[in-house]
Amino acid sequence: MRCGGGADRREILGLADEALAAWGQFGAPLAAWLSHPGVRTFVAVGGDTVAGFLMVGLVPVLGGRSRVDAEVLAVAVWPAARGRGVGDLLMGEAVAWLVERARVLPIRRVGLSTAVDNGAAQTLFRRHGFEVAGVRRRYYSTGQDAYRMFLRLSPRGGP
Ligand SMILES: CC(C)(COP(=O)(O)OP(=O)(O)OC[C@H]1O[C@@H](n2cnc3c(N)ncnc32)[C@H](O)[C@@H]1OP(=O)(O)O)[C@@H](O)C(=O)NCCC(=O)NCCS
Repeated sequence: MRCGGGADRREILGLADEALAAWGQFGAPLAAWLSHPGVRTFVAVGGDTVAGFLMVGLVPVLGGRSRVDAEVLAVAVWPAARGRGVGDLLMGEAVAWLVERARVLPIRRVGLSTAVDNGAAQTLFRRHGFEVAGVRRRYYSTGQDAYRMFLRLSPRGGP
């Protein structure tokens, strides 16, 4: 497990193309996020190849109560490597990193969106403490609805 760098770019984008195709085309935003300073990409490596990746974004928000919004932007594992805990490992690393960041930044919760019929992803997210907060109708360009899910990092914080 390590952080993704420029050398992983092609593999990450190829995996995203295949694994996320059911919900739309995410190549352009993912390519931009890969080199965005507010985005961290965790990569699980098997041998010399990327088995899976997970991207997290942090956005500072000014307001009555300033905060930093954290979002799991994407997670994917190659089909041949699924069901062996790679997703679990990636999410565990990401959550541990966010908990560490929340010691110095006002990150109160982590959000994500996932298709309502994506059982494998929901199993993974629930196992790491994410709970469904609502439904976004026709969230994906392909027309599917998405669950909005959150993991609370601070028991007292958050809207
Ligand atoms: C979601 C994904 C990242 C999980 O990766 P993974 O390496 O297979 O994850 P893990 O092996 O750690 O765990 C998968 C869990 O889902 C469960 N699962 C698999 N298929 C399932 C299904 N159809 N319904 C419910 N749970 C399912 C597995 O049993 C396992 O849970 P368990 O360990 O409690 O048995 C992977 O399936 C994937 O890349 N899917 C396509 C891309 C995607 O959906 N990304 C998320 C978009 S929000």
